[in-house]
Amino acid sequence: MHSSALLTLALAMSTAAIPTGMRRVSRRAAVTPMPAEAAVSAVDGVIVPYRRAASSDVALKNGQDAIALNKQFASIKAGDACTAGQDACAGTQFAQCVGGKYVVQPCAATTVCAALPLVNSAGTSVTCTTPADRDARLAATGASTTVAPAKAAPAKAAKTTAAKAAKTAKASPAKASPAKASPAPPAAAAAGDDDLQNSFTLDQSVVQKGYLDDGQQPPVAGQFASLTSPNNFINFCAKTLPGTPLTNGLQIAGGSCNGAPIGLIPSFEKMPSSKFVNPKNLATIPANTNFTIQMVLNNIDAGHFTNAQKNYYAAPQQLNADGVIIGHTHVVIESLPALDTITSTDPRKFVFFKGINTGLENGQVSTPVGSASKPGVPAGFYRLCSQNAAMNHQPVIVPIAQHGNLDDCVYFTAK
Ligand SMILES: *[C@@H]1O[C@H](CO)[C@@H](O)[C@H](O)[C@H]1NC(C)=O
Repeated sequence: MHSSALLTLALAMSTAAIPTGMRRVSRRAAVTPMPAEAAVSAVDGVIVPYRRAASSDVALKNGQDAIALNKQFASIKAGDACTAGQDACAGTQFAQCVGGKYVVQPCAATTVCAALPLVNSAGTSVTCTTPADRDARLAATGASTTVAPAKAAPAKAAKTTAAKAAKTAKASPAKASPAKASPAPPAAAAAGDDDLQNSFTLDQSVVQKGYLDDGQQPPVAGQFASLTSPNNFINFCAKTLPGTPLTNGLQIAGGSCNGAPIGLIPSFEKMPSSKFVNPKNLATIPANTNFTIQMVLNNIDAGHFTNAQKNYYAAPQQLNADGVIIGHTHVVIESLPALDTITSTDPRKFVFFKGINTGLENGQVSTPVGSASKPGVPAGFYRLCSQNAAMNHQPVIVPIAQHGNLDDCVYFTAK
């Protein structure tokens, strides 16, 4: 991890600041020497126009070759056999041939690895660049760009820039600016949020180094070593495939593996809680008669929910401007053999369940219970509980371990 983190950092820094040992990776690694004219890159999303190739036939061929290479690179993995001196991409990462095997290094944030057409001579180069720069260079050759590497999804803004750049290149080839040495890719700090949120590379700013400690240095009797990870567990679910599928936004009854991070955690002062107002704890209500559940709900910006069939657990917990969890609540009524039963319930069975999708009114949420054919609940004993949730239906997460309950339960009788 250490060396790849250093490399990522190096790639994010200016060329001048990169230690000599890092140069091999950070500079444009050309398969055939790249003419200076080609070495103009995108800085902070601004594409500098570049000179067109002397022969459009050569340019087209270079573009087609680069596209074909990018296609081949899609299937290259770390450890694959290679020929000395051969550079390639493994997905969005830069791959160098070391001792007959590809060794991969991440490109800096906002950049991806790509084969690019040379501009003033026949050939291609392999380098880290922004998706916008890659697309613009390919488009400028006239070659079809429909086979650009699928993984490098450019941000919306990048696409626009690419289109603009391609236009500029076509419309005013004579106005091309003089060649300059390629600047390093934009530093992570300068990157737009869109770029970071579309990158396949873990950004240095979010690496959680505490995840390297398993908690047992020194060992504590009875305490287990934590799983550790140098990369925030970004590929954790790869371990469970194909037997356990990715959750992928679905409610998979057989179990799955979910990749979305926990996300934003509120402060101690903003931990949610709830209390039923109706029915009250130990109340007796009329059987087979409609009633309304009412519940005080604190510290949830209620009424916010995503599509439960497509976005289940599919995004991190979020907070509003006041630092309160954006979400909603659910209420569930389960049947009990007696109010003082000591038999555990079966969460697969319940008599009433409702996601409350409306916001707070006077600090409370409410929902009616009963249908035309079944008003209220039949005579019996019940437990009513809240299930406070974030927007993507995950249970609310709070900042500290020792806290009061974040939900309420009441017991009532219908007769
Ligand atoms: C109970 O509520 C349902 C749903 O709103 C309604 O259709 C039904 O008429 C109500 N029953 C009675 C007896 O009020």
